[in-house]
Amino acid sequence: MNNGQKKKEIRVWCDGCYDMVHFGHANSLRQAKALGDVLIVGVHTDEEIAKHKGPPVFTQEERYKMVKAIKWVDQVVEGAPYVTTLETLDKYQCDFCVHGDDITVTADGIDTYHLVKEAGKYREVSRTAGVSTTDLVGRMLLLTREHFKRGDKEYSVALEHSSNLGTDSTARSPYTGCSQFLPTTQKIIQFSSGLSPKPTDRVVYVAGAFDLFHVGHLDFLAAAHKQGDFLIVGLHTDLEVNRYKGSNYPIMNLHERVLSVLACKYVHEVVIGAPYSVTADLMDHFKVDVVCHGMTQIAPGVNVTDPYLVPKERNCFKILDSGNTMTTEDIVQRIIRHRLEFEERNNKKEKKELAAVKAIAKKSVKQNGDCKITQQEPIKSH
Ligand code: CTP
Ligand code: C5P
Repeated sequence: MNNGQKKKEIRVWCDGCYDMVHFGHANSLRQAKALGDVLIVGVHTDEEIAKHKGPPVFTQEERYKMVKAIKWVDQVVEGAPYVTTLETLDKYQCDFCVHGDDITVTADGIDTYHLVKEAGKYREVSRTAGVSTTDLVGRMLLLTREHFKRGDKEYSVALEHSSNLGTDSTARSPYTGCSQFLPTTQKIIQFSSGLSPKPTDRVVYVAGAFDLFHVGHLDFLAAAHKQGDFLIVGLHTDLEVNRYKGSNYPIMNLHERVLSVLACKYVHEVVIGAPYSVTADLMDHFKVDVVCHGMTQIAPGVNVTDPYLVPKERNCFKILDSGNTMTTEDIVQRIIRHRLEFEERNNKKEKKELAAVKAIAKKSVKQNGDCKITQQEPIKSH
């Protein structure tokens, strides 16, 4: 019964490291938001992560900023404790805590959600299969282009080789181990704003690779968003990106890059596989008022043409200085510099996960007399 009373707002709590934020994190936050009205996300400090998991790739300031820009997030709590306490939920008036259906443990192997689980204030959502920080790091270190062809046998063998470097190759954790992400139209619909520009809207168009979506991209998109009312991002195909970036770029394939960009709160629409040159047809079709590019170099097109020739001729091209110089290449360099630390971190994480999986299996055998590993059923499908 309504009785003119306002329905109580449901406040949802999530927390995590959110290092190298990817669309898997975004998808967990999307699902969490759907369980309530307001989503509060706690992000751990560098110190806490280093203590429990190993050094993060991104600094806490970078990680806070990335999570704040995810469109389902209403508030970020900086420096949230690694073990989720009832006091934390109370402090932010949250009704329950939501996490993906993987196991998170402290340095001592304790389930970080044991307190909220015991209090019945824990909900689970499906973890997005096929993407993890570990997987992305593996792709960067491989220096091959095989991740373009997901499902390819050669890729799987190479990846297995890379992720087993220095590890016990006889057992893989179901969470840390690499699997493959299968893009579906449903996922795109879930991530899409579903909005169209209003006739009076000033439409802004930007294009690029947006590979390993990072704070440099974010600051650029924030600046581009300020140029108008409706922001369209054109994403180049994998082959095009590889033509102008070379080596093993892009690290994330087109489908993955689409989801990363769609998760950003400044973006209204994405063109999947945009032409490298911003053509008159494209500008007229989307009724583009202004085309922007950041301070990074503009690689020429196939016939050494300027990809921004048309918008320049129409006098609607703008260079934006986001004030951030981070590039995808910088991230890859960070990973390469810290390769050994990351390998050690992943080995440690996988060992802890395997121990936890074994403990669950043992408990299950005791309870059921059966050898099946039971996991809590996620309460919502992905
Ligand atoms: N998450 C998810 N799907 C993924 C990766 C993460 O749903 N593919 C969820 C986790 O279950 C958790 C939240 O994102 O609820 C934050 O995860 P985080 O603490 O950052 O750790 P992971 O991303 O799991 O760490 P890693 O990628 O290094 O394995
Ligand atoms: O390099 P990439 O194609 O991913 O860049 C996409 C857009 O983001 C480009 O316009 C680029 O100039 C901009 N950018 C930026 N600042 C950064 C990184 C990228 O303005 N630090």
